[in-house]
Amino acid sequence: MISPIRDTSKNRLHTIGFVVGDLEISHAFNRLATGHVGLGKTGEIYIVSASGIPITNLRYKPANTGNEESIGSLIKTEGVKRVLNHEKGTSIYKNYAGETVVGSYLWLDKLKVGVIAEIHKSEIMAPLRRIGYSAFLTLGILFTLCVIISYYVSNHISAPIITIAETAKKIADGDLNHRLSLDLKNEIGVLAEAFNSMTEQLATTIRTLEEKEKSIREAYHELKDTQAQLVQSEKMAAIGELVASIVHEMRNPLSSIKLNLQIIGRKLDRDSQAHEHYKIAIDQVAHLDKMFSELLNYSKPIVLDKIPILPDKLVDMALKHISEKLSVHNTKIIKKFEENLPPVEVDVDKIIQVIVNVLNNAIDAIEDDGKIEIKTRFTEMERQKMVDIIISDSGVGIPEHQLEHIFKTFFTTKKKGTGLGLTVVKKIMEAHQGRINVKSTVGEGTTVVLSLPVKDSK
Ligand SMILES: Nc1ncnc2c1ncn2[C@@H]1O[C@H](COP(=O)(O)OP(=O)(O)O)[C@@H](O)[C@H]1O
Ligand SMILES: [Mg+2]
Repeated sequence: MISPIRDTSKNRLHTIGFVVGDLEISHAFNRLATGHVGLGKTGEIYIVSASGIPITNLRYKPANTGNEESIGSLIKTEGVKRVLNHEKGTSIYKNYAGETVVGSYLWLDKLKVGVIAEIHKSEIMAPLRRIGYSAFLTLGILFTLCVIISYYVSNHISAPIITIAETAKKIADGDLNHRLSLDLKNEIGVLAEAFNSMTEQLATTIRTLEEKEKSIREAYHELKDTQAQLVQSEKMAAIGELVASIVHEMRNPLSSIKLNLQIIGRKLDRDSQAHEHYKIAIDQVAHLDKMFSELLNYSKPIVLDKIPILPDKLVDMALKHISEKLSVHNTKIIKKFEENLPPVEVDVDKIIQVIVNVLNNAIDAIEDDGKIEIKTRFTEMERQKMVDIIISDSGVGIPEHQLEHIFKTFFTTKKKGTGLGLTVVKKIMEAHQGRINVKSTVGEGTTVVLSLPVKDSK
């Protein structure tokens, strides 16, 4: 360094000499460069000459120049290149030791040297990476928390609410047997319990209502039936009275006709044509007579005079009643009575009339020399003890389309039939709280089951 010495005493600028000083700058710079103050763990500052040779000590071993660690070797890093280009700035590049560094460079033109400060990129990036890690960790924790909260919410709140909603829908659709089975100790659990008891109450209320509705409907039907029966019985009573009076009026002339016919008949020659006519007339009179007595029977109101009697006895009495007809037709009767049957409580005359009517139909249905089987058995119908009298014939049978009409008044398929037999049978059986059942197969025969209640069966 050189500085002039000037004389200023006589108001003029006169150089009288020079001060020359010599400074070892590398030493000063070295102190600066090796201090590493503020440059972290890996940072360094070094100075390069205009030819790119470091003139201060290097902290690391240069990768390209073997083991040299000090001044003297040419450095060709990007930082050095730029500083030698008199550039000023900061960039990332590989330093002389091959490490990636963040380097700042500055050309000191006056001194014709370049100052380079470098620090390892990893050290600069460490805080950023740390921030990144902690951000990632925070995010991870947040995500896990979200997953746990969602799982909890879905398990303890959403899922039970969905179950409640689904069950409510099923119940609204009418399936009242559904109940919630959520064993939760929270508000949802309380809600589920309240829901279940509400459903229980609803089911009970609906059941009660249904039962009430059913009994009201039954009562209504019973009322209608009773009303219809009342109207019918009133009508029948009126018709019955009318029929009875007509029959009564006609029976006397009919007896007179019969008597007179018999007188005429006695005078007729048995082989004459007139006797044939007489036979037809007396036959028709007999038919009318039968019809009148059946009509009277049918029109009379049924008044029962019940006594306990063994079923076998009833059958035997009925058989005795029509023994003449049976022997005329040479009908074989097969009896199969169950032993120790309880007595039935019936109006004996009326039930004999029933059995006789059924047997008459059976005899009419079979050819001569046919068979009729009569069985008795104990049975229970809707908790009611009954005795069945079963009369089976091997007759012509009843076609299916006729079966539903056989109990109708005046329905007959016979030339000399009245169509009143089974009507009376049904009427008498119903008056006894009994039943009648008919099964038939054309060509095979007919079975009539008469069921009568046993004494004190209720
Ligand atoms: N055992 C039977 N076999 C065949 N048909 C029968 C029998 N019982 C009843 N029927 C039929 O039922 C009809 C009605 O019988 P019923 O009321 O006794 O009147 P009716 O004997 O005067 O014809 C008969 O005409 C006959 O067609
Ligand atoms: Mg008959």
